[in-house]
Amino acid sequence: MDRDTPTLEYASELGRLLDDGLLVANSGGTILAVNNAAVRLLGESVVGKNIAEVVEYDEATEKLTRLANDDIDKEFVFQPDSAVRREFKVRIKQLKNSLVLVLLMDMTLQRNLEKVRRDFVANVSHELRSPLTSLAGFIETILDNEIQDHETLVRFLKIMDEEAKRMARLIDDLLSLSRVEVDEHIVPSETVPLLEVVRSVIHSLENRAKRREMRIDFVDKRPGGSANPFMYGYSDEINEIFHNLIDNAIKYGFEKTSIFVHVNAKRNDHVIISVSNFGDQIAEKHLSRLTERFYRVDKARSRQIGGTGLGLAIVKHIVNRHRGLLTIKSLPKGKTTFTVELPVINRSERQNAST
Ligand SMILES: Nc1ncnc2c1ncn2[C@@H]1O[C@H](COP(=O)(O)OP(=O)(O)O)[C@@H](O)[C@H]1O
Ligand SMILES: [Mg+2]
Repeated sequence: MDRDTPTLEYASELGRLLDDGLLVANSGGTILAVNNAAVRLLGESVVGKNIAEVVEYDEATEKLTRLANDDIDKEFVFQPDSAVRREFKVRIKQLKNSLVLVLLMDMTLQRNLEKVRRDFVANVSHELRSPLTSLAGFIETILDNEIQDHETLVRFLKIMDEEAKRMARLIDDLLSLSRVEVDEHIVPSETVPLLEVVRSVIHSLENRAKRREMRIDFVDKRPGGSANPFMYGYSDEINEIFHNLIDNAIKYGFEKTSIFVHVNAKRNDHVIISVSNFGDQIAEKHLSRLTERFYRVDKARSRQIGGTGLGLAIVKHIVNRHRGLLTIKSLPKGKTTFTVELPVINRSERQNAST
């Protein structure tokens, strides 16, 4: 046998290095060896079966039957029938010593990501188109001189102003989201006085709460005398977390109720901050989906009060980036609580960091 022609063992050793599935068959298509990745992808060992049974694809089957006298060099896509949608790219290569190598590349993740991206683009286009359609309609009406009095004109202009602002908010949120998604894997290096940021957010939203006759109650429940905790993070992003949560509490809580922002400590290295409001209960089935982009329990209502459906998606990514945890609870009487647990720098670590 040619010294450079890989043997079965050689192919098997090669297979160990691969994340893709590798099957080695003889020229009749009978599978002689598979690597671990192939077992993982195909669910069971297929040694002894014919390739055509495993990778069911007409053209491949046809080619495989001609294997004995033909060189095979082929690439095609293969989707096995299974409950979970999967897709493989298959590459077949005949070696000189009449062994056949079949490489199975799992394309499922890539396909799924492409689908998520396509859905997202479709959603964004739809969300931008509705205010734009409305704006275009009003502009046309005004241009056609169909408005008789100044009052109606002002009313129209106010609606147009609102729609333009909605588009601006949507674009701002999209930019925030894409920024935090890109940076999610980079652990922040700056230090932030966590509770000072929370207090400043509360301060900035107090007037908005007052307009709905609501008050925001801040209670620090950590053991007395606890120092102001610092964390590794970016104050703009921490600000964005609590701005979104408290803004939602103001929007979705009932008028004349209170919003509670409670602070607690977990061991000496985590701080737990919860934002609670009283309103309609969020049904269980929605809870796990609230942080999906554009997911809203009541789309019309969210739109009407100026929401974009991106706030909680942004919150989730920022919390992830800061290695924290977000949990959501909603009780039958309508008390809804968003809890954020964030790692803080404990004192000894801080002293070390500052020496
Ligand atoms: N405090 C809350 N109480 C009730 N529902 C909420 C609360 N916060 C968020 N939600 C629900 O979660 C959805 C997504 O929130 P978010 O991403 O901030 O989008 P938006 O506020 O722009 O609609 C909201 O549309 C609403 O249905
Ligand atoms: Mg929101």
